[in-house]
Amino acid sequence: MCNCINMQHTRFEVVIFYFIALTTKVQVSSEKLPIVLWHGMGDTCCFPFSLGGVTKFLESEINVYVKSIEIGNSITEDFKSGYLIHPNQQVNMVCEDLSTDAQLKGGFNAIGFSQGSQFLRALVQRCSTLRIHNLITLGGQHQGVFGLPNCPSISSRTCERFRLLLNYAAYTDLMQNFLVQATYWHDPLNESKYRTSSTFLADINNEQFINKTYVKNLQKLNKFVMVQFNNDSIVQPLQTQWFGYYKPGQDKEIQGLKETNIYIEDRLGLKKMDDQNKIVFLECEGNHLQFTKEWFRENLFSYLK
Ligand SMILES: *[C@@H]1O[C@H](CO)[C@@H](O)[C@H](O)[C@H]1NC(C)=O
Ligand SMILES: *[C@@H]1O[C@H](CO)[C@@H](O)[C@H](O)[C@H]1NC(C)=O
Ligand SMILES: *[C@@H]1O[C@H](CO)[C@@H](O)[C@H](O)[C@H]1NC(C)=O
Repeated sequence: MCNCINMQHTRFEVVIFYFIALTTKVQVSSEKLPIVLWHGMGDTCCFPFSLGGVTKFLESEINVYVKSIEIGNSITEDFKSGYLIHPNQQVNMVCEDLSTDAQLKGGFNAIGFSQGSQFLRALVQRCSTLRIHNLITLGGQHQGVFGLPNCPSISSRTCERFRLLLNYAAYTDLMQNFLVQATYWHDPLNESKYRTSSTFLADINNEQFINKTYVKNLQKLNKFVMVQFNNDSIVQPLQTQWFGYYKPGQDKEIQGLKETNIYIEDRLGLKKMDDQNKIVFLECEGNHLQFTKEWFRENLFSYLK
């Protein structure tokens, strides 16, 4: 006796087998959705060493249409936009651009890199015409930042002073209108000042008032996947990547998403999404956006098919 497969199938079985294989294959490939990428600060849509490379990688391995968002009409403009074009304006431009892309009509998955993460989330919330299936954010700053890139540590005195200075200036009209990073600067020492002055983040997080459209549109997602880089030296605090933040009134202790008012009062529908298992927290060892292809395949491909 051998427990090998009985190879003597009837012709009927063989026909059925190929029929199933064929229809299954057709179904799978027609279900695969295009992918839209939104780059971070200091980056562009298409540098070969960053998103240009990611685009090629996804195109070849997942075999779908991949669109890497470019703001403006040139790489230079795109690069500058990361600092100087207000996120509200960027979101409007991208909403219009993607809405007219015929290849995205049937829906797509979206991946945000660094600040591109919160911009993409704003797009999901504001641009009702798009059909976004899964939203993946890598190293995003969903609750904003309170720190400077590569600031050695929050205990460094110089760094702290510089932070206070930027904090003072971040909420001036000038900075809010002209510097992208000021629009998601989140001062935990004065939450009310942040809420009333932030021209972008406090709005998309429904901290000023509750915009029901935001809740409804975010709810349409199948999954909201947030990736945190455990050794990130750029994003402060680290946990903003998972929608956590400093406890209000100080800048040392951290609270997770579930302890924030946004969640407890369910201002954005995140609690409801969490109850429906739509929120996924993933972590990656390494510094800001330092992932390998293997890590990407193992952890994210299942959300891109
Ligand atoms: C809520 O958001 C939608 C989508 O961006 C916008 O059209 C609407 O004006 C907002 N509502 C308020 C009261 O701001
Ligand atoms: C917060 O900022 C407001 C407006 O600038 C100011 O009136 C208030 O005193 C500040 N509160 C704290 C705790 O610093
Ligand atoms: C992360 O940082 C810790 C402490 O600084 C260090 O021990 C560890 O090797 C780092 N891991 C990676 C993957 O860089």
